[in-house]
Amino acid sequence: MRRKLEKAAAKVMKNAHAPYSNFHVGAAILLTNGKIFSGCNVENASYGMTNCAERTAIFSAVARLGPKIEIRAVAVANDHGVACSPCGACRQVIYEFGPDATVFFQGAHGPKQAHITELLPEGFRLQ
Ligand code: THU
Repeated sequence: MRRKLEKAAAKVMKNAHAPYSNFHVGAAILLTNGKIFSGCNVENASYGMTNCAERTAIFSAVARLGPKIEIRAVAVANDHGVACSPCGACRQVIYEFGPDATVFFQGAHGPKQAHITELLPEGFRLQ
């Protein structure tokens, strides 16, 4: 399943709109219902409007299935083969829909996996 998610992340990475950073990222999420959604980074000339691959994947799943989705796992791929863990904003968004999610990403010394609460201790929740 990890391989399948990583493959989906690498595939969607090719759709990235990243003319400013030239750093193409893909993410795939596995839901507890077994479905997989993927997303890429979408940059903007107004740089702050950029949406990361992880959030694109999650928002796409919510748009399709509604807000009750539960994320079991997330995989992230990039076209530079460099370390790339989800940014702080994406960690918070992963946590919203996957407080028990496992995240697969490229670490400084090769592939890594971490629980979302290792990446985001004390994530914010309303209630
Ligand atoms: N980026 C992602 O899409 N996901 C990550 O985990 C790290 C960074 C994107 C945002 C931006 O388009 C580019 O990578 C460079 O920061």
